[in-house]
Amino acid sequence: MTTINRKKLNELCAREEQKFIAEHPKSAEMYVRARKSLLGGVPMNWMRKWAGAFPVFVARAKGAHFVDVDGREYVDLCLGDTGAMTGHSPDVVADAIAHRVREGITLMLPTEDSVWVADELKRRFGLPYWQFALTATDANRFAIRIAREITQRSKILVYNYCYHGTVDESFASLCDGGVGPRRGNIGPPVNPAETTRVVEFNDLNALEDALKHCDVAVVLAEPAMTNVGIILPDAGYWKAARELTRKYGTLLLADETHTICVGPGGCTREWKLDPDFVVFGKPIGSGIPASTYGCTEEVAERISARIALEDCDVGGIGGTLAGNALSLAAIRATLQNVLTTRAYESMIPLAKRFADGVGAKIKKHKLPWNVQQLGARAEYTFCRKPPRNGRESAAASDFALERFLHLYALNRGVLLTPFHNMALMCPATTEPDVDLHTRIFEEAAGELMA
Ligand SMILES: Cc1ncc(COP(=O)(O)O)c(C=O)c1O
Repeated sequence: MTTINRKKLNELCAREEQKFIAEHPKSAEMYVRARKSLLGGVPMNWMRKWAGAFPVFVARAKGAHFVDVDGREYVDLCLGDTGAMTGHSPDVVADAIAHRVREGITLMLPTEDSVWVADELKRRFGLPYWQFALTATDANRFAIRIAREITQRSKILVYNYCYHGTVDESFASLCDGGVGPRRGNIGPPVNPAETTRVVEFNDLNALEDALKHCDVAVVLAEPAMTNVGIILPDAGYWKAARELTRKYGTLLLADETHTICVGPGGCTREWKLDPDFVVFGKPIGSGIPASTYGCTEEVAERISARIALEDCDVGGIGGTLAGNALSLAAIRATLQNVLTTRAYESMIPLAKRFADGVGAKIKKHKLPWNVQQLGARAEYTFCRKPPRNGRESAAASDFALERFLHLYALNRGVLLTPFHNMALMCPATTEPDVDLHTRIFEEAAGELMA
């Protein structure tokens, strides 16, 4: 088996670090300033994770490209980790937002856009009732609360190494056969073993064992895992899993925040899933904070029967700005004009081009890696066979190698998502954008294996 020469990897990393620092003097300067007033020198903790001594500071972004403060232009394959899957600032959304901004941003009253959007979501996902929040995290949290309330069960179930935003219950992982806080979990409110059951993806026996306790309100799941590499469900997995949830009285929440990359109605529509809830955030408003959760007729009836009018504003579901006029205008413009069936027809073949290109270079350099595609996204992982669950995928992760490949790409004008090796296509991405990455990937692999 081909192994990576660690000494060579370290030398190449050091060289790329020097190149990065030399070529980004203005970002370096801003980072020095930032460290005096931003915790860790960044506006958000995870921005420390970018490859390189500091993050590049952005000047402007449009479509599939952005320019940093040093005037360097990049192909953006990270796209705000899906927040900008629409491409940066699509004109039609920018116009709709500009119009709405002048006509009232937030009122605590509905606008006609909310009705148009809910009708469209119903058409896309097949679920009849919709509510809005500002982040996918909140949409997940609110749906979980509803699930707990109507089932009167305390626990939720998640897959090992899942990510669903900063939902407390989901920062749990399997350790020594039991459930414990996920590595890096900052100040967990309670031991997640109290709130959460965790199983490996694609393991129906484990799922049944966990559901058998009849204390799980809802399974919170991405239809395909996307946050620990791309992990596709086995054929028939969701059909059987859905039967199990029904057998044990557990609800199913399809978090389509990333899997919306497979089509306008996510996996729910493409794979004919039949969830009780759907959550969709991030790109739904082209990056304007917005998210939604939908539910079935039955869930709607059960929860409506339990909410007294007098208490409907203090139930732990909501947010002053949730469902605001600006978010809804952004969602309407996005669904109507940007994340359309036509857009997917160009984005998905580009992801295939990425996967084919990278796959060919992996083969050429005899690297023990694989590449997976899911709709408009593709990702390579450092193991020969595509992982079938979170544990397998996490075991194949290689932080130093990942950082090298990311920095190598960044230094040559391509941005990958910082947390793993994901590349996402937007409607403005082009074949030359994808091919640039393939050439850079091959160069990096060539240097590494020379
Ligand atoms: C599948 C999934 N759900 C929910 C979220 C949370 O999104 P947000 O951070 O916008 O709340 C994420 C974030 O990466 C995600 O990947």
